[in-house]
Amino acid sequence: MRFPAEPFRIKVVEKIRRTTRDERVELLHRAGLNVFLLPAEAIYVDLLTDSGTGAMSDQQWAGLMIGDESYAGSKSFFKFESAVRDITGFPFVTPTHQGRVAENLLFSTICQDGKTVIANTHFDTTRANVEMNHAEALDLPVKEAYDPQLGKLWKGNMDVAKLEARLKADRDSVPLVVMTVTNNSAGGQPVSMENVRATSRICKNYGVPFFIDCARFAENCWFIHEFEPGYKGKSIIEIARELFSHADGCWMSAKKDALVNIGGFIAMNDVELARKLQQKLILIEGFPTYGGLAGRDLEAVAIGLYEGMELDYLQYRTAQVRYLGEMLLDAGVSIVRPVGGHAVFIDAKAFCDHIPPEQFPGVSLTCSLYREAGIRGVEIGSLMFGHTDPKTGKHVGPHLELVRLAIPRRVYTTAHMTYVAESIAELFKNRHAIKGMRLTYEAPVLRHFTARLEEID
Ligand code: F0G
Repeated sequence: MRFPAEPFRIKVVEKIRRTTRDERVELLHRAGLNVFLLPAEAIYVDLLTDSGTGAMSDQQWAGLMIGDESYAGSKSFFKFESAVRDITGFPFVTPTHQGRVAENLLFSTICQDGKTVIANTHFDTTRANVEMNHAEALDLPVKEAYDPQLGKLWKGNMDVAKLEARLKADRDSVPLVVMTVTNNSAGGQPVSMENVRATSRICKNYGVPFFIDCARFAENCWFIHEFEPGYKGKSIIEIARELFSHADGCWMSAKKDALVNIGGFIAMNDVELARKLQQKLILIEGFPTYGGLAGRDLEAVAIGLYEGMELDYLQYRTAQVRYLGEMLLDAGVSIVRPVGGHAVFIDAKAFCDHIPPEQFPGVSLTCSLYREAGIRGVEIGSLMFGHTDPKTGKHVGPHLELVRLAIPRRVYTTAHMTYVAESIAELFKNRHAIKGMRLTYEAPVLRHFTARLEEID
């Protein structure tokens, strides 16, 4: 069997609506050909993101009922803090309502003009928070990360030779090194423990703090468990503890591997830095024992963090994503290989090989996918990461043009995945009818969220 049956049964269901192609054409038109601007109730299978879209368990829902809503010192906070400490080992734990607030607190404190944050790859909100604070966000992934067809493991890794050279040349301009696990923007690819260890060693040698952006740490630990020599006999929590032991701190969008709809935190060893962030937190989020969350949300995170590390669950989770990827490969569709932890990334450059990057092939593909099948994916390419050079007027784009199909956790069944794969296979046969696009509106930052486009005839 290619796909193990779900290790849960379904207690509550949510109806989803099927729309007609005509309805979808009209809705796309109204959304300015930007799938972020579509009403979600008009989507059949929503693979826009795996963030905050998971299904909570009966245990988590029960946890909501016992959430303590005290403004300060809530019982739920202590449960949350003890779960984060147990897994990460970091003593100073600050809740935030989601990951990017942790990024805002951290980067507004440590970044300034002339500084460079180095990562295996910054996620888009991470990059934006670094850049908004006048620093440079430098990605140093291994070169394999830029070769979507190369089916090699650990393509999420940091290029440690380049990292060391950069720190050797100018250590003082680097306030932080970040490892994103799994490496979302590089195809959800895992990072090996060996690479984390090597990165940590280099950071220690040069006295640069090393943090982990751990939104998908449990999925990353599953890859280490399965594929890195020496880890098969260890539990996921043991692997996670080792992972975090190499770092000075971490932040998490709990909306991923902690299986909640909202939540996050930042945790670290450095008490001085933690205090600075907490002062800002009080200003923008709330008191440090709730950080913009309700007590019940903290309760759900505390439970979800452990559920997200269950081996049975992780086996099913990663197999479901792989199953979709393999069906697409069977249909001749180019995807980023190997299949990552939370999503299948279609190579939009290959799929729409008749559309140049400056005409946003990834956006064209997401629109066609919605129009033909009611499925929503997201472009990770020139719209998200590109810009027009103000001097030359030329398009500057990322290495890859991808469309991400992110799979919400415990939400869709195998039959949904089969539907998605068959719809894409059908679209692939008629791919040369897909048209390129041009922008009619763009915001100065994170333009993909609000951009409006039109098709080029
Ligand atoms: N870091 C990573 C690696 C992420 O994937 C995300 C969010 C964040 C930080 C920011 O966290 O959304 O809670 O504020 N990723 C989502 C996605 C949005 O679709 O991949 P947030």
